Amino acid sequence: MNLFIRNISQLVTVAAHGKRVKAGGEMKDLGIITGAGVLCRGGTIVWVGKMSDWKETLPDDFSEFDATGMVVLPGFVDSHTHMMFAGDRSGEFALRSQGATYQQIAEAGGGILSTVRHVRAASKKELKRSTSRYLAEMMRHGTTTVEIKSGYGLDMDAEIKMLEAIGELEQEEMMTVVATFIGAHAVPPEYRSDRAAYIALLLEKVLPYVGKKKLATFCDVFCEKGYFDVDESERILHEGRRWGMLPKVHAEELNAIGGAELAARIGATSADHLERVGASGIAALRDGGVVATLLPGVSFVLHHGYAPARALIDAGVPVAIASDFNPGSCMSFSMPLMMTIACTQMGMSPEEAMTAATLNGAAALNISERVGSIEVGKEADIIAADVPDYKFLAYHFGTNHIRKTVKRGTLLEF
Ligand code: NIG
Ligand code: FE
Repeated sequence: MNLFIRNISQLVTVAAHGKRVKAGGEMKDLGIITGAGVLCRGGTIVWVGKMSDWKETLPDDFSEFDATGMVVLPGFVDSHTHMMFAGDRSGEFALRSQGATYQQIAEAGGGILSTVRHVRAASKKELKRSTSRYLAEMMRHGTTTVEIKSGYGLDMDAEIKMLEAIGELEQEEMMTVVATFIGAHAVPPEYRSDRAAYIALLLEKVLPYVGKKKLATFCDVFCEKGYFDVDESERILHEGRRWGMLPKVHAEELNAIGGAELAARIGATSADHLERVGASGIAALRDGGVVATLLPGVSFVLHHGYAPARALIDAGVPVAIASDFNPGSCMSFSMPLMMTIACTQMGMSPEEAMTAATLNGAAALNISERVGSIEVGKEADIIAADVPDYKFLAYHFGTNHIRKTVKRGTLLEF
């Protein structure tokens, strides 16, 4: 809990100086300090500066870590995942490699509904065990905060089972876990001929239960053709807000149907995906102060085009990137890989990708006053990479450069 990181060759603070998020040109400002040190007391950052300004002797109850030759940066904030699942969809991956599309596979009964079958059959304990293994691996790859969505249960019992499992992990694991309820992820098969009844179930039974038991911070919807239209999404998000959940929207992924405008209208914390967002959606997000969470891994896997990151950033929309780790559209939790794809395919600079994966991810979870940058008063979630410069995290891809993860001041070595 009490730790001094000394002799840091390059410290990337992503300092926000009291702002909750960075937009436009601010995203390029990484607040780099060379020859730096960071002091953490009781899990909180209490000093950040140049080693040449460090004049004190370290008290006995502090451990030390010498980061000579290393880049030190904030732990990654992965603000969009569906990482609690059972079964796998490697068969769908193979089908897509031969030309099948995500929608064709979904229409044939695969996709989200295939994972739903496995999750319904799994016990809470099994879901926790597999998710906990992934959480440990993610920490080794530098992620210190993660959002986890429900949405593979799609009935009262299985959605609650997922959310309770996520809540227990939040208590038991070192990782900071944020829970999102997404009962409106797909219409389950038993309601295929009566979608109105499924929406009524969500509005009248599931949302009130989740709200009363405080099982989720956010309420999300898959606002998409064939899933939930704008009207349905709006009703669900409104009701979620009434029960204390902040809105998020899976918006404009496969078709531009007005999900971005909905996110702005309803005051969503983030609008996610946005592969098809157009000029009016971008303007709405900017005016509504909504974080645009882009998911580079999904476009990389599904081949359905990339979100217009450049247009969003240039318009002044704060952009975050996340993995969307899930068994269908992105079986990866590597935030550095997401940064690589953002830089090579989406026109983001390494600096913008870094801000998007840290501070702006924290803003997409409404916790950027606590995490996402290395600043006095923030939680000591800090990682050290064995690279000569922060750009290597995106540039030298396909390998793990993270050597140490500090979680609330506790040093984990790999
Ligand atoms: O964010 N787009 C909707 N939901 C997920 C995919 C989940 C799945 O295919 O299992 C996504 O990409
Ligand atoms: Fe998603």
